[in-house]
Amino acid sequence: MIYLKTPEEIEIMRIPAELLSRTMGELALWVRPGVTTRKLDTIAREYMADNGGKPACLGYAGFPGALCIEVNETVVHGFPSDTELREGDIVGIDTVVEKEGFMADMCYTFAVGEIDQAKTALCRTTRESLYVGIGAAVEGARIGDVANAIQTYCESRGYSLVREMCGHGIGRKMHEAPEVPNYGRRGIGPRLTEGMCICIEPMVNMGSRNIVISSDGWQCRTRDRKPSAHYEHTLAIIDGKAQPLTTFDYIHQAIPDRFK
Ligand code: MF3
Ligand code: CO
Repeated sequence: MIYLKTPEEIEIMRIPAELLSRTMGELALWVRPGVTTRKLDTIAREYMADNGGKPACLGYAGFPGALCIEVNETVVHGFPSDTELREGDIVGIDTVVEKEGFMADMCYTFAVGEIDQAKTALCRTTRESLYVGIGAAVEGARIGDVANAIQTYCESRGYSLVREMCGHGIGRKMHEAPEVPNYGRRGIGPRLTEGMCICIEPMVNMGSRNIVISSDGWQCRTRDRKPSAHYEHTLAIIDGKAQPLTTFDYIHQAIPDRFK
């Protein structure tokens, strides 16, 4: 069941989306060599709470943090820990805020200090593929059209797409129908319609698409231990096209020199 949102509900969804975007802008200032991912988690919890939001990942199906932390080969759902970030790492921060009864979900992969060209290119292509997906998400198109656009963009540049995890609808719940995969055939799946709210979140691997999930059932890494990047926006179909409710602007304002 896909819950379409009214224009009024979409206006309310902008509230958690704005808080989430600002939270990520705050975190951007802290991502540097030597910081622990637990510290980042603490900052996020405080920032969300201080601004009337709730960290929706914390306790979700037992998840132990406010942030999902994705260092290098970690694809998704890594736990915050006492491990320090190191120069040359990439770290995806994926998190969900609840406010006014609605959710917003967003991910950004950051460079820790200077990163090599291969990681820079992986992050750039992954970020671009998110916008390619957004561009394909017009009213009347099918989910398969979005998925295929992302897949084609990344694979033509030599990367692979994780298939076991996908984007999703969003609203009062973090995960609603429909599923939004990052691979697949054009012309299949549900049609995008006015009021649909979805998260598009390509997870792109430098090497093979295969993943391994840890015994705790959460933490997911590439099988070949090559890096993976991940970006995500929460979007609403308004006036015939997908409009991002979340934004990377606060991140890029916070770290203009490290945005490549
Ligand atoms: N963007 C992630 C997802 O859609 C957020 C997961 S939060 C968690 O799966 F609590 F499930 F980890
Ligand atoms: Co998501």
